[in-house]
Amino acid sequence: MTDERRFRIGVLGSGKGSNFVAIADACAAGTVAAEVALVVSDVAEAGILARARERSIPARFIPPGKFRTRLDEDAERAYVAALQTAEVDLVVLAGFMRVLKDGFLRAFAGSIVNIHPSLLPSFPGLAAWQQALAHGVRVTGCTVHFVDAGVDSGPIIGQQTVPVLDDDTPETLHQRIQAAEHALYPQCV
Ligand code: GAR
Repeated sequence: MTDERRFRIGVLGSGKGSNFVAIADACAAGTVAAEVALVVSDVAEAGILARARERSIPARFIPPGKFRTRLDEDAERAYVAALQTAEVDLVVLAGFMRVLKDGFLRAFAGSIVNIHPSLLPSFPGLAAWQQALAHGVRVTGCTVHFVDAGVDSGPIIGQQTVPVLDDDTPETLHQRIQAAEHALYPQCV
């Protein structure tokens, strides 16, 4: 046993948490030299909180406040305080469907990453796999990037391509992109 401090990750998510699971499993397996110290969601019943609790990882719902697409000021302070109290070194956005503003970005400058289900800068925003199908692209994928004040913008860390097949539906394409995400995100972290 060593009492060396491990690199600590804080994960924010709004959905089912499959990317969180991929990262937590990689930490448990030792392929990512870190531990998930805290999971926070803006959705009380989000699967990501249940997946964290199953793994005995601290998991909190923190209400996002009065806005639909971002945190209000009180909520932003509560998110920052929770992550700072957990002493996280890196904030990992895993399906967190709100844009982070200045106060949050300053608190974790250069230490926030996101995954997006397209080859950015193509198809930022919602349902990127549907945007890809609608445009008829033959190749799409996923992107891990540092987070800045924009929507799915910021310096790119890694990308993985995914072919679009002739008989793809939004569901089949989304599934194939998610499988690629689960390999790419732990590598980038
Ligand atoms: C992921 O596919 C991620 O790329 C997407 O949300 C999903 C979350 O799934 N994020 C965005 O669209 C951000 N703009 P998960 O909860 O199973 O990890």
